[in-house]
Amino acid sequence: MDKIEIEQIDRSAIHFKFPPAPSSGKIVVETRQLKKSYGDLLVLNDLDFVSLKGEKIAFVGKNGEGKTTLSKIIAGVLEYDGQLNIGYNVSVGYYAQNQWEMLDPEKTVFETIDDIAVGDIRKNIKGILGSFMFGGDAIDKKVKVLSGGEKSRLSLAKLLLTPVNLLILDEPTNHLDMRSKDILKNALLMYEGSLIVVSHDRDFLQGLTTKVVEFKNKGIKEHLGDIYDFLAKRKLESLKSLEEQKKLNGQKEPVKASENKLKYEQKKQLERDVRKVNTQISKSESRIEKLESEIVLMDEKLSKPDEFADEISSGELYKTYDLFKKKLSTEMQNWEYLQLKAEELSEKLSDQ
Ligand SMILES: Nc1ncnc2c1ncn2[C@@H]1O[C@H](COP(=O)(O)OP(=O)(O)O)[C@@H](O)[C@H]1O
Ligand SMILES: [Mg+2]
Repeated sequence: MDKIEIEQIDRSAIHFKFPPAPSSGKIVVETRQLKKSYGDLLVLNDLDFVSLKGEKIAFVGKNGEGKTTLSKIIAGVLEYDGQLNIGYNVSVGYYAQNQWEMLDPEKTVFETIDDIAVGDIRKNIKGILGSFMFGGDAIDKKVKVLSGGEKSRLSLAKLLLTPVNLLILDEPTNHLDMRSKDILKNALLMYEGSLIVVSHDRDFLQGLTTKVVEFKNKGIKEHLGDIYDFLAKRKLESLKSLEEQKKLNGQKEPVKASENKLKYEQKKQLERDVRKVNTQISKSESRIEKLESEIVLMDEKLSKPDEFADEISSGELYKTYDLFKKKLSTEMQNWEYLQLKAEELSEKLSDQ
């Protein structure tokens, strides 16, 4: 990857803008005594839930408590009993847990977005793809050759470019590396519509939502505030420890308990590794920045041969210039390697 690409990504990421959607009514979603069973299995019982225009809500809870089920019901892709009202003028965009399976494998990255982009954003499809880290030749790749992470990123880009005023995202950060998560989060922070996001990712949720809806015992409990307020209230370190608590409490056989403990330790180790790689990435990024600005300075000097005649004629400046260019290229490779490692680790972590 060369320098120019990185700069383009960063700049366009900041300029990402959602396509405008018509304004919705004040009440976006309202359920009354909503019930859902799969055969004999009752998952949601007498649920009363309201979401107002512009609200940003996090759905949290242990696995199997019904977060995906309610998301699907609101998105209109699952049947239910009881009452569900979707408000006036509400248009829903839904990102399912394995949404990327819906992409057409034969289309290229560019075609995938070109097909759905309308209005002003059509002028800047390349820029938008750049903000989702599809720069240069990557836009001509066919979907079928993309990695899992790339496909997730592309289907998120696709969803975010569809004008909707209620976005429902079910675990959107699965398979995303840290950089893509940041891009998604930044985009969502600028989103003015209503948002429902299912996630176990504390750092991703932080500052993104203003209400936490906790799924528990076939019902929901609302907590106003950020995810950190919720975790503090529950005296939890992370949303993943919510899961651990369940596993440990739910274990009756001692053998399994120690297995769980091992898994827990492994997860802790993975989390430590992730933090370590993250630190390495930001260190690498600041080294890159420093090298780049040194090179810019030298470029300037080289463009003024009169002023810096001595340094230039001695060959000293060229030598340093070459050295710094090499250092930069090595550092870029290092950065790329760290990104891959980070991606690998977060994938492992989400598999745990
Ligand atoms: N299509 C289905 N058929 C039968 N059971 C299902 C189906 N989908 C989900 N379930 C069950 O319903 C419960 C809630 O699932 P889900 O809504 O996916 O939970 P969450 O998203 O909170 O992990 C789980 O026990 C799950 O096994
Ligand atoms: Mg789910």
